[in-house]
Amino acid sequence: VNLGRGLYKIKLTSEAERKVVQARELLDTIVKENKVVYGITTGFGKFARTVIPVSKLKELQENLVRSHSAGLGNPLSPERTRMLLALRINVLAKGHSGISLETLLAMIQAFNASCLSFVPEKGTVGASGDLAPLSHLALGLMGEGKMWSPKSGWADAKYVLEAHGLKPVSLKPKEGLALINGTQMITSLGAEAVERAQAIARQADIIAALTLEVLKGTTKAFDSDIHALRPHPGQIEVAQRFRSLLDSDHHLSEIAESHRFCDRVQDAYTMRCCPQVHGIANDTIKFVQDIINVEINSATDNPMVFAERGETISGGNFHGEYPAKALDFLAIAVHELASISERRIERLCNPSLSELPAFLVNEGGLNSGFMIAHCTAAALVSENKVLCHPSSVDSLSTSAATEDHVSMGGWAARKSLRVVEHVDVLCVRLLPFVVNSEEVCRVLQDPNAEVLAMGDI
Ligand SMILES: *[C@@H]1O[C@H](CO)[C@@H](O)[C@H](O)[C@H]1NC(C)=O
Ligand SMILES: *[C@@H]1O[C@H](CO)[C@@H](O)[C@H](O)[C@H]1NC(C)=O
Ligand SMILES: *[C@@H]1O[C@H](CO)[C@@H](O)[C@H](O)[C@H]1NC(C)=O
Repeated sequence: VNLGRGLYKIKLTSEAERKVVQARELLDTIVKENKVVYGITTGFGKFARTVIPVSKLKELQENLVRSHSAGLGNPLSPERTRMLLALRINVLAKGHSGISLETLLAMIQAFNASCLSFVPEKGTVGASGDLAPLSHLALGLMGEGKMWSPKSGWADAKYVLEAHGLKPVSLKPKEGLALINGTQMITSLGAEAVERAQAIARQADIIAALTLEVLKGTTKAFDSDIHALRPHPGQIEVAQRFRSLLDSDHHLSEIAESHRFCDRVQDAYTMRCCPQVHGIANDTIKFVQDIINVEINSATDNPMVFAERGETISGGNFHGEYPAKALDFLAIAVHELASISERRIERLCNPSLSELPAFLVNEGGLNSGFMIAHCTAAALVSENKVLCHPSSVDSLSTSAATEDHVSMGGWAARKSLRVVEHVDVLCVRLLPFVVNSEEVCRVLQDPNAEVLAMGDI
């Protein structure tokens, strides 16, 4: 994510350089000896058995990139394209793709200068990797199509590269394939979704605790002995955070003090069960983070070049089922944080549940308070419920039934980000505003009102 923000430049280690050069040497030998190897001296997909003459190997790779640049929709933002480029460079730097050092360095120069290709967000089935988006990424580097840089804005790729003193990449045998067969769009968007989900999860605990305080709930349900008997890491951690945020012997809350002797034994689930519900969201984000971490540091290319064995081997590392499933699951988990939050907004706005002024506003009627802000929350949560239908349960056979099972991970990644964006709006922007509203503070601080000042959480 930090690479995406443009906070870093990229440099190859000498170890990576050595591996890249060795793998390329093997590839050059294969070409010289006229061996038949998938994607190097043959067509692609269904055309895997069509052998291509050596004189046309460069054209073969250029045709591949041009014909596969068939995506559509809005372009990825510069931040997201930068992540995509960084991840593709990382794959190639592992030295199993057979890219030449020259081409890899040209990509790094483009990254360093923020010369970013036009990459439309739609059109990957996420099985033979993210073919369309990665082809668009490669196309720009070849000096074709559009490109963006901070200096030039959007312009023809050829001129953008020229303006930065860079030469368009001239593809050698296999290099087109090396640039496009992998899961980097799914995983770059996935990395952003995970990062933002973590920030939301932290906020969600704090906001829920604050809501419980305002609604005069009890802290009994967060007793460590209860959670020790069901020791899921997320649940334990969230309960512990609630204990540290809410009334305790060390940190007395005046609000809690004001209703210490009330007859309430337990609260509604949206408050009482936060450790259990937020807990699994927390654990799921961790689970997804681990999968994305492995994925962004993997070689997902095909065929793979093993210089030390003197072999190239066709495999299936480009298949996106891992990140696709993980990101479907991430959306489901993060959605729950908003789903339970929306119910708490209802409890805050509904006077029969809150014992606070309706919609938390003075002179209700003249003022509508948070009446419609609650509707916004309900609409976002409802939209997320549709977006949480997992995309990876789908698959459509492509490439004349050779690529007959695909992950649909591109959509899993894009919609996990959309769910995260909605939850972000609701949990991180809207809800703190509601809980902290002037009216809540006024009522809670009014010495004649039923409750006293807020605790210092
Ligand atoms: C990516 O690799 C797989 C596995 O060999 C292959 O089936 C697919 O055709 C490749 N993609 C392209 C564009 O060649
Ligand atoms: C990219 O920038 C870094 C930092 O300035 C530099 O060390 C590296 O050599 C550059 N890489 C290329 C290929 O220009
Ligand atoms: C819960 O989320 C926080 C914040 O992202 C993280 O630091 C912590 O490791 C997570 N806990 C577990 C058990 O995954």
